[in-house]
Amino acid sequence: QTEISRVRNLSRIQMGEFEMEPWYFSPYPSSFTDADLIYICEFCLSYAPSLTEFTRHRAKCTLLHPPGNEIYRDDHVSFFEIDGRRQRRWCRNLCLLSKLFLDHKTLYYDVDPFLFYCMATRDKKGCHLVGYFSKEKESAEGYNVACILTLPQYQRKGFGKLLIAFSYELSKREGKLGSPEKPLSDLGLLGYRAYWAETVVDVLTEDGRSSGISVEDIGSMSAMTTADVLHTLQNLNMLRYSKGQHVIVLTNAVLEAREKQKEKEKIKGKRRIEPERLQWKAPT
Ligand code: COA
Ligand code: NA
Repeated sequence: QTEISRVRNLSRIQMGEFEMEPWYFSPYPSSFTDADLIYICEFCLSYAPSLTEFTRHRAKCTLLHPPGNEIYRDDHVSFFEIDGRRQRRWCRNLCLLSKLFLDHKTLYYDVDPFLFYCMATRDKKGCHLVGYFSKEKESAEGYNVACILTLPQYQRKGFGKLLIAFSYELSKREGKLGSPEKPLSDLGLLGYRAYWAETVVDVLTEDGRSSGISVEDIGSMSAMTTADVLHTLQNLNMLRYSKGQHVIVLTNAVLEAREKQKEKEKIKGKRRIEPERLQWKAPT
């Protein structure tokens, strides 16, 4: 890949009621580079370089939600599972769109080996895509997420943590431990670190937990890999080494930080994934 191909090529896009500015290059048709505004259909994710073309498209497009099975629904969001092989066009459009906000050198045009878990909010007009993660149908490395994205207009509202929580809920159903594909982007790392820290501290402080809990126990309760639990404990400065063994120490600093965060969550109304609402069996 040449250096030039990595320069941001679109100036602005419009999707649903939002206008946004791309962050990175994405291989949309090269003729689109000249357009001031690119129109993206928020339902089928197809794209048009002019309002005329876009209006023509909208008159024909009948899609009102991501083209897959709704496998989760609560008061706030729905999740749809989409097979890259069955919905090739839609998933390629999703990859093109998300490349605008992902600095990876390669874009996966070959969507067939992936499932896409798309999160949407619902209203009278339809289901509005908020974010998604992709997941290899078979990951030799045990990754439970390949790419993850919250659309920019929805970032920093807790949706990323919700996507991550959902990915671990799927791993729990599979009876597996999971970890996201490396390398993570800077924002990906921030999001995961925040989720991991919260999850590990919550496991340790839940009622009736014995103090003898091990790194492996935390892993099996959260579907996090032992390596990710260990790194998280290290980052939180909660790991001591005694008589040849790891000892987990729940420090006051960590407890206080978590309490403060919980206060904030109460005010903001923290969203969470309710496992009993997941209608899904691990594909066999
Ligand atoms: N600066 C500092 N911390 C940030 C941050 C930012 N811009 N964005 C997220 N975080 C951290 C915060 O700790 C945040 O928790 P807080 O808001 O309670 O402090 C935590 O991550 C989770 O934030 P959340 O609102 O749940 O995440 P999000 O919806 O913004 O989504 C990503 C996070 C990574 C999915 C999103 O930033 C994204 O799509 N980035 C572009 C694509 C990408 O890089 N994906 C990862 C590829 S490996
Ligand atoms: Na993990």
